[in-house]
Amino acid sequence: MDQTPRCRCKIWFILCMFFICWYFMIHNAKWYTLSSPTATFSHDTISNPIEIIDSNIKTTEDENVNTKEIDWLHDVAQLRALEDELEPVLKKLKPRKIKKNETEMAMEITKPKTRSQKRGNESVIVNVTEPSCTGRYIYVHDLPSRFNDEILEDCRAFSKWQNMCPYIRNNGFGPSLGNSDRVFSRSGWYSTNQFMLELIFHNKMKHYECVTNDSSIASAIYVPYYAGLDVWRYLFDHNVSSRDALAIDLADWLREQPEWKKYDGKNHFLVAGRITWDFRREIDEDDAWGNKLMLLPEFRKMTILTIEKSPWHGNDFGIPYPTYFHPRSDNDIIEWQNKMRRNRRRNLFSFAGAPRPEMEDSIRDQIIDQCVASRKCRIIQCSYDNLKCYQPVDVMKLFQSSIFCLQPPGDSYTRRSTFDSILAGCIPVFFTPGSAYIQYLWHLPRQFNKYSVLINEDDVRHKNVSIETILSRIPPRKVSEMRNAVIDLIPTTVYADPKAKLRKFKDAFDVSINGVVDRIHNVTKNTASFDFDERFSWKYFLFGSVEKHDWDHYFSYSMNQKVKQVDVEANEARR
Ligand SMILES: *[C@@H]1O[C@H](CO)[C@@H](O)[C@H](O)[C@H]1NC(C)=O
Ligand SMILES: *[C@@H]1O[C@H](CO)[C@@H](O)[C@H](O)[C@H]1NC(C)=O
Ligand SMILES: *[C@@H]1O[C@H](CO)[C@@H](O)[C@H](O)[C@H]1NC(C)=O
Ligand SMILES: *[C@@H]1O[C@H](CO)[C@@H](O)[C@H](O)[C@H]1NC(C)=O
Ligand SMILES: *[C@@H]1O[C@H](CO)[C@@H](O)[C@H](O)[C@H]1NC(C)=O
Ligand SMILES: *[C@@H]1O[C@H](CO)[C@@H](O)[C@H](O)[C@H]1NC(C)=O
Ligand SMILES: *[C@@H]1O[C@H](CO)[C@@H](O)[C@H](O)[C@H]1NC(C)=O
Repeated sequence: MDQTPRCRCKIWFILCMFFICWYFMIHNAKWYTLSSPTATFSHDTISNPIEIIDSNIKTTEDENVNTKEIDWLHDVAQLRALEDELEPVLKKLKPRKIKKNETEMAMEITKPKTRSQKRGNESVIVNVTEPSCTGRYIYVHDLPSRFNDEILEDCRAFSKWQNMCPYIRNNGFGPSLGNSDRVFSRSGWYSTNQFMLELIFHNKMKHYECVTNDSSIASAIYVPYYAGLDVWRYLFDHNVSSRDALAIDLADWLREQPEWKKYDGKNHFLVAGRITWDFRREIDEDDAWGNKLMLLPEFRKMTILTIEKSPWHGNDFGIPYPTYFHPRSDNDIIEWQNKMRRNRRRNLFSFAGAPRPEMEDSIRDQIIDQCVASRKCRIIQCSYDNLKCYQPVDVMKLFQSSIFCLQPPGDSYTRRSTFDSILAGCIPVFFTPGSAYIQYLWHLPRQFNKYSVLINEDDVRHKNVSIETILSRIPPRKVSEMRNAVIDLIPTTVYADPKAKLRKFKDAFDVSINGVVDRIHNVTKNTASFDFDERFSWKYFLFGSVEKHDWDHYFSYSMNQKVKQVDVEANEARR
């Protein structure tokens, strides 16, 4: 429109004048008592020049303001008058700003409730909102409190060695860490326990934008049962009935729900924040480990998300262990990534962990020997009396100053430490594909050598490979590419604050939801059959086939038995 340029000039003129006034006021002692609205006002206008250009607002009133002879520098009343004159202009600008970007608006209108209440001419909003939640609505079962809240009240019973109650605070993130040593960043750091995923996930779900109370439109049904926290209370009771009680109770409860019947439970999912072996007890003997949750027919139909999945079963899926970082915004993440890119890393490699003397096959002893013997390796040895390896500051400091971080299996394939090292921009070194590659299919890319190193555990066991030699032979350019790839994984492997509204990034929760919805779509809608031997599910999910593979020796089925024979009691104390 021909009016626009003129209008633009005027507004810019006013803005300039206004800025000059403001500048003089700030620097003139007489004016420092001036109240804040002025400052706020000038900030608004200056930071949104684009809105002003875009709008076709008639500014006839403003002309008067311009032409008046005003002593701008010395008259508060005039200044206020100007403010009042401009107020309607600003008010008009605001609605325009919202209409400008409908995508953005759709993201803001989050709750399905809002959506169903919109009518008539506001249908434009419905129209825009629809694509964002369609296909990812989640219905959350309203479980009796014995399946979740009452378990939390029993937090004293979780561990014999430590009071875990502080760790359920802050949505399951645990006590805030602050940043006194400047090892972390400004905000979002907590002393998070590795077994709190159920609580974290549930609290994230409470803020998920596509929760619906209408199960008929839901793509997946979430069962907010704290499976791992429940069984934790009874792990050492030598009594299978107490360990199984709630799982059996829940199976009975679920079967009675109308939501269950539609797909016979196949559209249900559950988060189990401990390793899969804690829920797969095959015999009903009091000395056997864990409960039998995952063997109950009801739970075999469901999709189960867990920090370590079984390579030999098809319905559990690995999702990241919680780390110490729970960003509140995109910027928190970017700031942290930049810090990790700039870090000086003095150690070629490092290790934080304990030996496993009671595990015959463990390579931890060799790992520790090699690290201690190398001048390029630093170690934090965990033991009953060295609590240092439980101190987030020490572990993060070590990983942030290392190029590679060794992640040998411990009691089981996976370690929380893997995600701490990714968070610290330290390239993980694995000794079996079971530690990550077959686990976190939704969160980690398939090009494993772009972000990690795999050293065959058998080679380490026979003491004929030097970890230092292998790592120091990787060219610096390749190392730097790998580190960048690791740092790029940070967003999708952290659980952001439930109140965070990430726009640029998807966090571990978002990625998990996509995976669950995709998987449940497959098992409820696709007639495509999964008629492969479930014991090969690790390679079926990874490579889409069950043919012979180089990695077969890592997953011989007999290892299934080995994993279970672990001397669990000792491990629990010092994971
Ligand atoms: C609207 O905002 C979204 C997200 O911020 C952005 O991806 C998109 O390009 C914007 N669209 C327009 C028309 O500005
Ligand atoms: C929708 O807007 C039109 C004009 O823009 C108006 O005539 C009509 O009454 C409105 N309908 C509703 C339901 O508000
Ligand atoms: C909005 O709805 C109209 C009809 O109701 C349809 O033609 C149009 O494609 C929809 N737009 C989007 C973005 O879904
Ligand atoms: C969902 O909640 C709304 C408002 O709370 C209620 O009006 C509606 O009947 C509920 N729908 C179902 C299917 O429960
Ligand atoms: C095992 O637990 C069940 C239920 O919690 C209890 O009834 C039973 O007495 C316990 N058995 C023993 C031997 O303690
Ligand atoms: C290490 O030794 C074992 C047994 O002696 C052998 O099978 C293996 O190939 C050797 N590995 C390397 C890398 O030399
Ligand atoms: C769902 O099926 C599609 C197509 O067969 C496949 O690509 C995808 O990986 C499957 N997703 C899951 C989670 O099984």
